[in-house]
Amino acid sequence: MQFYMPTELITGEGCVTGNAQKLARYGKRCLIVTGGSAAARSGALQDVEEALRSQEISFTHYAGIEQNPTLASCEEGGRLAYEAGADFVLGIGGGSPLDAAKAISVFAANPGMTEQVFYSAEWDHAPLPIVLIGTTAGTGSEVTSVSVLTDSKGKKHSIHDRRIYAALAMSDARYTMTLPRAATLSTGIDALCHCIESYFSRKADPFSRLFSVRGIRLGLPVLQQVADASPDSMPTLQQRETLYQVSIFGGMAINPTGTVFPHNVGYYLTERYRIPHGFACATFLPELLTHVKEQAPALCGAFYEACGTSEEELVNLAKKVVPVQGIRLSEDEIRTALPRWENNGTVRNTVGTVTTEQIAEMLRKGF
Ligand SMILES: [Fe+2]
Repeated sequence: MQFYMPTELITGEGCVTGNAQKLARYGKRCLIVTGGSAAARSGALQDVEEALRSQEISFTHYAGIEQNPTLASCEEGGRLAYEAGADFVLGIGGGSPLDAAKAISVFAANPGMTEQVFYSAEWDHAPLPIVLIGTTAGTGSEVTSVSVLTDSKGKKHSIHDRRIYAALAMSDARYTMTLPRAATLSTGIDALCHCIESYFSRKADPFSRLFSVRGIRLGLPVLQQVADASPDSMPTLQQRETLYQVSIFGGMAINPTGTVFPHNVGYYLTERYRIPHGFACATFLPELLTHVKEQAPALCGAFYEACGTSEEELVNLAKKVVPVQGIRLSEDEIRTALPRWENNGTVRNTVGTVTTEQIAEMLRKGF
């Protein structure tokens, strides 16, 4: 077993303003990285600005991060950080701004770096310190050394490097209160998929599985409640606090193990059809459960027993949560896409053997 997670993680009501003095460790100038309006709507941006002012830390705000952030936006953010003389990068948001903040910290320390060098991880200088403030409960990016970005060819790629762990991550579940029910379900099912996929990773060990099992036991009943509630209802603070914990457990689980095939095949649905990440991954959850039942039955039995659930319950939840998109892929499109999964590291990380023909079958079912 191995475990490494150097991020100082603080959660709870008022944690950002209440721990403002911790920000002073990272310098006197900061680049704040956000998406559009969610950071302000959640209240997190105001708390961060108040905390920075209280420590006399000056800041520049870069609000240019889109959903599924592009490498170009991160380069732009890195240039801004460099020009502003930022000592550290502070990301506020869901997975997109948090993953982008990690990449921006790399570009800020290595101005003019090419895409190839970025992905090779052969950086001349260590990234700037990173502070992350989560406003959704799904990604777990706060506690992982992963950043998922869309490259110049429009393809989602992740980098995994110990130098992009946040130095400090803080979150107050109240920041997730403005997140609508559909987004809560998408991010929540993403967190649940992290826990489940990690369990069936070839790299899983008893330690990572502790996080998986805890996340599933906590998250499953709450996601059921949110999925069964009326479409215009809003999840409660207590439900959101639980889902935030699930996202952290999911992040801790995938950190050493990575995800398995539903995540990677899901990237394709997001790139091609703009299906939200969590829904895209959960689309392939039933196929993962069928696959492990056939190829790793003993492990599968131990999983359901430890998590107190069943294949039927998980499949029903995934079907209930993921909206039907009415998408059918042509055989041509499937054949064109398939090579990306040949010798794909994430697909091979799944226990048993997943063939590209299996993936073709999954895609033929439509969504
Ligand atoms: Fe994910």
